[in-house]
Amino acid sequence: MRSSSLLHFSLVIASVHALGTNTVVQEARPKVAAAWYAGWHADTGFPLSSVSWSKYTHLTYTFAETTPDVKVLSLNGSNADLLPQFVSTAHSHGVKALVSIGGWTGSRWWSASVGSSANRTAFVKTVTSFATKYKLDGLDFDWEYPGSQGIGCNTVNSKDTANFLSFIKLLRADPVGKTLILSAATATVPFVDVNGNPSASVSGFATVLDWIAVMNYDIWGPWSPSVGPNAPLDDTCASAELQAGSAVSAVAKWTAAGIPAGQIVLGVASYGHSFRVHRANAFKSGSTTLIPYPQFDASAAPTGDSWDDGAGIDECGNQNGPGGDVNFWGLITLGYLNADGTPKIGIAYRYDTCSQTPYVYNNQTETMVSFDNAQSFGAKGSFIRSKGLRGFAMWEAGGDSRDILLNSIRSSGGF
Ligand SMILES: *[C@@H]1O[C@H](CO)[C@@H](O)[C@H](O)[C@H]1NC(C)=O
Ligand SMILES: *[C@@H]1O[C@H](CO)[C@@H](O)[C@H](O)[C@H]1NC(C)=O
Ligand SMILES: *[C@@H]1O[C@H](CO)[C@@H](O)[C@H](O)[C@H]1NC(C)=O
Repeated sequence: MRSSSLLHFSLVIASVHALGTNTVVQEARPKVAAAWYAGWHADTGFPLSSVSWSKYTHLTYTFAETTPDVKVLSLNGSNADLLPQFVSTAHSHGVKALVSIGGWTGSRWWSASVGSSANRTAFVKTVTSFATKYKLDGLDFDWEYPGSQGIGCNTVNSKDTANFLSFIKLLRADPVGKTLILSAATATVPFVDVNGNPSASVSGFATVLDWIAVMNYDIWGPWSPSVGPNAPLDDTCASAELQAGSAVSAVAKWTAAGIPAGQIVLGVASYGHSFRVHRANAFKSGSTTLIPYPQFDASAAPTGDSWDDGAGIDECGNQNGPGGDVNFWGLITLGYLNADGTPKIGIAYRYDTCSQTPYVYNNQTETMVSFDNAQSFGAKGSFIRSKGLRGFAMWEAGGDSRDILLNSIRSSGGF
């Protein structure tokens, strides 16, 4: 454990017990109640003034994107002018301010940026200069994904995981780097080895990162064979072909590979995915009960809420359909949920007991949404507490409505 970096920003809780002549000092690492703040949503409904700062310990601005030049990070996709204000506002509330490097569209040159010794040295300078310039408390590495393709046109190298670790070690040896909070947003399985399989051990990362944030969402979506849970708490209770990943399996895999539970933050989703499900496929025959994992019509993908990406050409030049993402607030504005987060009359509802996530279905538009609500966030908070995880990180802060999700996970998680 890197005590120097932790002490730098920690609330150190020291309880001193006099035991005869011995003194035992117990140090507890502070919990993490975090969210990512999407800079591009500041002027589409979620300005800095809407953040519930007092309910968070850390806020992470997204994204600084990798570029073809290892000396340059780009804020072009977010809102460069807002970043200094984000940092000062966070600090005025006693909240740590981080920036996330990468993201789905911003990971194209992650591999190249750490692909040689010279590049790692240059990239350490790039990220430390960036952190200094913006007065950041830390950096989050959201490389989607080392050693495997993400968006479709990323640079990829079989040595990505090893290069990533070498880069972070070099960063930790830097006078600025050693003072930063460093985290990594990860898949639900450990970083892959040279053969593309989850590594047996990634314990080296535990010595240089403060924590990993497991992105336990997008587990099922419009790319899946059927409707399924966006963010399953558990999948070990599902049949084998439905085990696509979950918080339970991710924590088991990452801890087995050498990341202590106390360095795992659970990534949670304030949004869901929508699917076109024809009425004949939605209900158990002759009933009003929704069936699990129904077939959906990929040729008629629904659009999501006003933040959803419409159909179009992506950064790799590929044509995509509408994303179909619906934020928690979008479930309310689109008429699935009441303002208090309960299902509206006329909307069919199912709470899946294995994944512990809800579904809603509008039988007029034939649209089903897999999402998270207060109940499922409550279950995730209880899991965080019972497993001794470090905390939670929500994608994204602006997806919630009236803090219904945030309040639920904070309460059950003991924050
Ligand atoms: C950001 O956008 C500006 C204006 O289009 C462009 O000149 C600049 O090169 C871009 N920066 C990066 C790092 O992509
Ligand atoms: C190093 O970075 C440069 C761009 O700054 C890139 O062109 C080159 O491919 C990188 N090297 C490796 C080995 O990835
Ligand atoms: C279908 O939608 C109508 C109109 O909203 C609603 O009244 C009815 O209860 C719905 N049926 C089921 C089975 O959900």
